[in-house]
Amino acid sequence: MPAARRMPGAIAPVTHADPAPLAALSSRSLKGRLRVPGDKSISHRALMLGALAAGRTRIRGLLEAEDVVNTARAVTALGAPARKDGDVWEVLGRGVGGLAQPDGPIDFGNSGTGTRLMMGVIAPHDITVSMVGDASLSKRPMGRVLGPLKQMGLEVEGDRDRLPLTIRGTSRLVPITYALPVPSAQLKSAILLAGLGAAGETTVIEREATRDHTERMLRHFGAEVTTVQRDGATHITITGDAELEGREVTVPGDPSSAAFLVAAALIVPGSDITIQGVLVNPTRTGFYTTLQEMGGDVTLLDQREEGGEPVADIRVRCAELSGGAVPAERAPSMIDEYPMLAVVAAFARGATRMDGLAELKVKESDRLAATAAGLAANGVRAEAAGDTLVVHGEGRVTGGGLVATHLDHRIAMSFLVMGLASAAPVTVDDTAMIATSFPEFRSLMEQIGAQFGGGGA
Ligand code: S3P
Repeated sequence: MPAARRMPGAIAPVTHADPAPLAALSSRSLKGRLRVPGDKSISHRALMLGALAAGRTRIRGLLEAEDVVNTARAVTALGAPARKDGDVWEVLGRGVGGLAQPDGPIDFGNSGTGTRLMMGVIAPHDITVSMVGDASLSKRPMGRVLGPLKQMGLEVEGDRDRLPLTIRGTSRLVPITYALPVPSAQLKSAILLAGLGAAGETTVIEREATRDHTERMLRHFGAEVTTVQRDGATHITITGDAELEGREVTVPGDPSSAAFLVAAALIVPGSDITIQGVLVNPTRTGFYTTLQEMGGDVTLLDQREEGGEPVADIRVRCAELSGGAVPAERAPSMIDEYPMLAVVAAFARGATRMDGLAELKVKESDRLAATAAGLAANGVRAEAAGDTLVVHGEGRVTGGGLVATHLDHRIAMSFLVMGLASAAPVTVDDTAMIATSFPEFRSLMEQIGAQFGGGGA
């Protein structure tokens, strides 16, 4: 990763030097009340909409993880400085159409969300931007976003569909109506963000509901967004030539980070933990629904609304789990949680079948293959075929394996959780990438009683 320019008041970007292996050891019961850091999806969007709004945006609870820091650096490079002032992040927005030509390439590190959403942010500006990323990000498909943005008027040098690539926006973007070919909130969001600067109404049609944080936050910043159900699909329309105003944003706890703590408490005998202030937007809670169906003692307490999003405290106690079936239509609401669910399923009794996992193959790694390999390395019987994963749970896991993480934070965290409840320690080959989404993972786990050791970290 190239050396980064420091922003005044901003945290330093994380750089990954050598791999940092770590082993998770069989742990005593996990106990405590705690919070998890801010939601990653909402944090990215708050910075981007702050940059596109006129005036000052103040963000409380922003996730200070590498992916989001890269987005803060990106908006700063585009002329909308993001910096930390006490506990609050401030973005000085330039208004839609007001972003400036950056001095050099922008590095998005490991973040698909940062890259894809920023393509939409950049699209309505007369600027040329080179985008680069790490080895994992450089393998991920960008054509799905560039296709519709090109229809709107974006130009892509050399017609590439993988990073590194250079894009040229235009202040004469044309609105489109676009039916999503894959259930992707990143794709939907990139088109809606570009639509902010198009001359007219841009509509995205989605058949399967994906996370709706962009729609919610666009409205919060003053954009006109309408949502209509028609012929079994949701039509989301944004009015272009929009003017956004700087706002206050509060970011709730990330349910995708909380998932690791919840899973650990479910499988480590005698555990009882409560995680406070977690986002429970129904487009994100498929994992929690699934755990409840499998017999998990997972309760959402004190459900309330904070900053335009539903939030709750989540109490989890260790429980006997049985296998289950996760329908394909639930996939978008728990897409980042499948590696963790597969590990939990190994501790359940009976088979757990997960369908509709095509999108899992194009995440930070091929998560379907990486999860299946990690299970096999630890003595768990599982079959990955097509878009389906079946895990044969036996109520206990032997462990003792070394898991290849492929630069994927969620693979690393999922298998570390496995080691807390398996007979022999589980080692992951690298933990450095955990900092991309959840730098406090190890310390919060240790705070509730998890044991780690060896592996050189
Ligand atoms: C995200 C959308 C999902 C998810 C990612 C965050 C977002 O990706 O996996 O971690 O913030 O919009 P896709 O849109 O590719 O499904």
